[in-house]
Amino acid sequence: MHMFTIVKREEMADGTVVLNEIDAPLIAAKARPGQFAVLKANETGERVPLTIADTDADKGTITVIYMVIGKSTALFKALQVGDGYQDIIGPLGEPTRLEKVGTVVCVGGGTGVAVLHPITRGLKGIGNHVISIIGARNKALLILEDKMRAISDELHVCTDDGSYGHHGFVTEVLTEILEKKEVKLAVAIGPVPMMKFVSEITRKYHVKTIVSLNPIMVDGTGMCGGCRVTVGGVTKFACVDGPEFDGHQVDYDGLMLRLQAYTEQEKQCHGGEHVGAGR
Ligand code: FES
Repeated sequence: MHMFTIVKREEMADGTVVLNEIDAPLIAAKARPGQFAVLKANETGERVPLTIADTDADKGTITVIYMVIGKSTALFKALQVGDGYQDIIGPLGEPTRLEKVGTVVCVGGGTGVAVLHPITRGLKGIGNHVISIIGARNKALLILEDKMRAISDELHVCTDDGSYGHHGFVTEVLTEILEKKEVKLAVAIGPVPMMKFVSEITRKYHVKTIVSLNPIMVDGTGMCGGCRVTVGGVTKFACVDGPEFDGHQVDYDGLMLRLQAYTEQEKQCHGGEHVGAGR
């Protein structure tokens, strides 16, 4: 049986975040920034959707980065180099529409930076001036700083506790930048409240904003309805219509309520979890 073998493994953020580079040539050849894959560790394991953080078409590998938050991802964490996933389906979802617009601001929080990275690289690759802002609760939880610096014209780092970089939230740095520069596009990926506040700020400055949503995905193919979100008053499925949406149109409060309700239910019934697009 074909296995999706792990060829490289790294732990980040004090072991709470794990990177796997996996042999998956067919997916590597097709995946575009912004798309995700659904991974299953073994026969009885749950299907976990994760954004494809990187691809290497020559080596035939894809890279995923996930936060260890429950039973399924704990099972993933146990896999070492040479072990494999039983099943990976992808690429799924709509790729990011990369456009050359001038100056763009890429904002990432927590493990959302893993999702932001390939999109930032794509935006830089087609000639945009890229200003990136990445943040985490503290220095130990910050991921991919060097990789983001390498593909950004300017990188700003924030930590909530001030242990590194700007002491405070990404939104404060964003406001300063929007005051000074003519920004054409913002991309925000991270916890839902962060994306909500970034979108509120960019709305004031009339800057088009893309967010990548992480509702509860189950099948990842548009069949279960688990990933529905309201965008511009219309019900959308993040797995097929997204995961990216116009940040100014998303009903964040509804999304937060659904994520919260699910967490409660999870606690009551079983130990599994569904992880959204990589964080
Ligand atoms: S994950 Fe089931 S419809 Fe999107």
